[in-house]
Amino acid sequence: MRWQEHSLELLDQRLLPAEEHWLTIEGASGVAQCIRDMVVRGAPAIGISAAYGVALAARGADDRRWREEVHDAIDELAASRPTAVNLFWALEKMKQVLETCNSRDEAIQQLADKAVAIHQEDLAANLTMADLALDFMADTAAGQPFSVLTHCNTGALATGGYGTALGVVRRLHEAGLLKRVFADETRPWLQGSRLTAWELSQDDIPVTLNADGAAAAIMAAGEVRWVIVGADRITANGDVANKIGTYGLAVLARHHNVRFMVVAPSSTVDMSLESGGSIPIEEREGTEVREIRGIQLAPSGVAVFNPVFDVTPASLLDVIVTEKGLVESPDLAGMRSLFR
Ligand code: MRU
Repeated sequence: MRWQEHSLELLDQRLLPAEEHWLTIEGASGVAQCIRDMVVRGAPAIGISAAYGVALAARGADDRRWREEVHDAIDELAASRPTAVNLFWALEKMKQVLETCNSRDEAIQQLADKAVAIHQEDLAANLTMADLALDFMADTAAGQPFSVLTHCNTGALATGGYGTALGVVRRLHEAGLLKRVFADETRPWLQGSRLTAWELSQDDIPVTLNADGAAAAIMAAGEVRWVIVGADRITANGDVANKIGTYGLAVLARHHNVRFMVVAPSSTVDMSLESGGSIPIEEREGTEVREIRGIQLAPSGVAVFNPVFDVTPASLLDVIVTEKGLVESPDLAGMRSLFR
């Protein structure tokens, strides 16, 4: 995403990889719509764009009702998608800044500065997490390149830049430790094929795309040492909500003795929820499964179950990597030691 003071430019993720089309958004409602309609996706990217949305709200607000209008914009942005906690985290940060402002002009400046800072801090967190994960994995790699499997998109598109799980993949590649990335295509929105495979191909990082159902066979063949994924919300006991299919991968990984890593900035951690059962899981329309771009793939009207996230219990994870440090074999005590 590109911040232009008067507008936010978003690369339309729905059109990739066929078309690189940038949208110019001039108000908070437009940003909320882009989040709802999946123009911008990935937990950190949703939070960052929402922060820019709040900054745009101040710019477009009435001189007398500016505070109220910015609050309304925050409410509208908060209603755009329910699962990724980064959205609510970023809006809370913006609200705190708003409370300190005494005029619309001040709010325009302060909120824009804060949104830029949230963006930059996310990028910095990605780089730190990649370093921490590399150190952790290098110990077991003994200098030998190995392959990993990932799910959904966690790259530059989904974050402030660089990526969470995909940032670790980039760093492994830079260190000469990456043989290959297997990318789950990630039904139904195909973030793996449309976004992850595109990002990795652009950077000449060896990637093999596979249907989600092929992950078990890949692990059974001993092809991968690690599964590395991002997260949309991590609760106090270390449970992780992430793209639908992540839970299944974690079960498979445990069965096949493949290690499982979650990479997410602290803005994804929600210590107010005890466990994953309390995370609101977004369900989307059945047409997203019945059709692809208007082409019917199932009997019209067939019942569809379309939750777009699932919860992986902490007991199936080997490690959570955040910019504040690592939590190995995550549980309440481990999470509390990093996040009070
Ligand atoms: O529905 P999406 O595309 O917003 O879901 C994205 C994911 O689930 C990602 O894996 C997650 O947000 C981590 S992004 C660094």
